[in-house]
Amino acid sequence: MRLPALLVALLLGACDDYVIDSKPASPVDIDAVLALDGDVTSGEAVFQEHCRVCHDVAGNDKPGKPGPGLAPWVENATEAETIQVIVEGREPLMPKLLVDDEQQLADLLAWMAQAWSTPEG
Ligand code: HEC
Repeated sequence: MRLPALLVALLLGACDDYVIDSKPASPVDIDAVLALDGDVTSGEAVFQEHCRVCHDVAGNDKPGKPGPGLAPWVENATEAETIQVIVEGREPLMPKLLVDDEQQLADLLAWMAQAWSTPEG
């Protein structure tokens, strides 16, 4: 008589495990990105390929570009916040996960920081 109860408990336990295991893995590990050395040259190519269609390459607001100039953003936000935007996208126009490769994200951050840093900053 106790066996069914035990089985149910085991099954429930298994279900809990299943739920935990089936959580979608975070596509990007932000800490891992921040720990990588970014390659500026590769980062520029990533920006050209994935971002330039909407964001000015010089970091300014520009007519015809739906996305805002990113130089002020990069100056004020942390790198983790920038990755967060890329992972989550921005409604309604900016798709999420345009870049989901951790090395490419590190490269992109390195290039944006170099390209738009103010000399006096
Ligand atoms: C299809 C167009 C599009 C593409 C491609 C795109 N973005 Fe965006 N992005 C936008 C728009 C539009 C916004 C502003 C959304 C809003 O109103 O908050 C934005 C906002 C942002 C912001 C926040 C800026 C701020 O001042 O709030 C960051 C950072 C950003 N984008 C980075 C990127 C990067 C890096 C890429 C390439 C990986 C990229 N975006 C590709 C359209 C785009």
